[in-house]
Amino acid sequence: MGLDGPVDLCDACGPLSTTKNGNRNKNTTRRKESTMSRKIHIFDTTLRDGEQVPGAKLNRRQKLEIAEQLARLGVDVIEAGFPCSSPEDLKAVQTVAEQVKGPVIAGLARAVQQDIDIAWEAVKKAERPRIHVFLGSSDIHLQKKLRRDRESALQQAVEAVKYAKKYCEDVEYSTEDASRSDFEYLCRVIEACIRAGATVINVPDTVGYALPEQYGELIRNLREKVPALDKVILSVHCHNDLGLAVANSLAAVRNGAEQVECTINGVGERAGNASLEEIVMAIRTRESFFDAHTTINTREIYRTSRMVSRLMNIPVQPNKAIVGSNAFAHSSGIHQDGILKDRSTYEIIRPEDVGIKAHSLVLTARSGRAALRHRLKELGYELTDEQFQRVHKRFLNVADRKKEISSQDLATIVEIELTKVPETYTFDSLQIMSGNTMQPLASVTLIKDGEKITDAATGNGPVNAVFNCIERIVGQTGKLRDYDLKAVTMGKDALGEAMVRVEIGGSIYSGIGTSPDVIEASARAYVNAFNRFFANGNA
Ligand code: KIV
Ligand code: ZN
Repeated sequence: MGLDGPVDLCDACGPLSTTKNGNRNKNTTRRKESTMSRKIHIFDTTLRDGEQVPGAKLNRRQKLEIAEQLARLGVDVIEAGFPCSSPEDLKAVQTVAEQVKGPVIAGLARAVQQDIDIAWEAVKKAERPRIHVFLGSSDIHLQKKLRRDRESALQQAVEAVKYAKKYCEDVEYSTEDASRSDFEYLCRVIEACIRAGATVINVPDTVGYALPEQYGELIRNLREKVPALDKVILSVHCHNDLGLAVANSLAAVRNGAEQVECTINGVGERAGNASLEEIVMAIRTRESFFDAHTTINTREIYRTSRMVSRLMNIPVQPNKAIVGSNAFAHSSGIHQDGILKDRSTYEIIRPEDVGIKAHSLVLTARSGRAALRHRLKELGYELTDEQFQRVHKRFLNVADRKKEISSQDLATIVEIELTKVPETYTFDSLQIMSGNTMQPLASVTLIKDGEKITDAATGNGPVNAVFNCIERIVGQTGKLRDYDLKAVTMGKDALGEAMVRVEIGGSIYSGIGTSPDVIEASARAYVNAFNRFFANGNA
């Protein structure tokens, strides 16, 4: 079949047909296990490799919230953390292991006994625990980082797997920096680890050095040279330093990989990891090409992406595939004309298949509580009365300034309200006097313990004046390290999202704020960063 053959347009859905009222037939949200194609296991490492992003540290409650959402998304494995990295991470992984049902829960460990002991402490209460052990296999890592020879490293790998196996039936072994390792040595390590009891072998492209053809060939050659791989799950784990993490992972799937390690929104070390949503939707959209499928509930993708972005304070770029705010926006006249005639002309994925819904019911400031409740339910949010009150209040605040509230606006509002850090200070209001012939002057009111505190300050721009005001009120200074502003929803009156990284007391705290008014969004983000500082036990 040709690359652009019409039948391949959406392999999972079959050729798309459109009914008279514009709805597509064939609704395939969660794929049934197919006897025809291979199942690809989705191993999510947002809570481990993803969390290694500076400023994206999650607390226990936040990890649990994401893990529960990952279970709803239907991932096969959740790598919940690196338990020996800190006592807090150990507790966070334990909490996930005890409370999240469905996926395998994995904890990472270096190939040393102490790490493995702690990893087991962390995951032992999971329904399906896994210990994930890793050790470098490239000469660069062995000589320059570990300062040891190949044979003793191989011995260490085998002993570590055997040791982990005493605790746990399911042991994954990762040959760190596999893509830069000597092939014969890599085969020997893998063979020995399988013999020692590993149930999953992972072949990481740790530094994002591989190219798709080459990485695919590596996976194919490993399968040929190490027949024992047929007895275990062969996994891949790609980093995005050359922007090829997804392409490399897919090349590996084509060549026999059965598990893909990836993260929501592609967050992760340096340029990030392979993006879960891109891998899943590529396999689903081109299922016959890959002859493979996943069992991800794709309709949970958008919500998961928003939650991770908000809790980690990492905005999603607007043109990001699958989950970016422009991913389904058709702006050119020719494209809009095509879409109106038949969506399949310019659309290979239906927005609703990743959980973005189009609605006939328009939400405005005049919409009642019932309409809001109805839409929230449609979006899959089951809120308690108290949560609903908070969302309603914020909804009215935004709707006063924005003509229509879209589903994306609403999802953003809900996530802000549900994932708030404890608020030492709550943003109340601000006023600005600014112009090109005067020094901007701002007045800001925050609420602390029910009391309004107002102060005023000047700055070299209106946002700077607002930030100076906030610092005066909270009695702390901060150094702005990063500031980013973008529209998170569509239209002229879109919700603006401000993201700041602020150095306070020697550490970096990130903050996020949204509002139709960009200065207010910036103020909310700055207050949010200080609230994180105070929530961290700082007075
Ligand atoms: O990138 C990498 O090699 C890793 C391993 C620990 C799997 O994250
Ligand atoms: Zn990694």
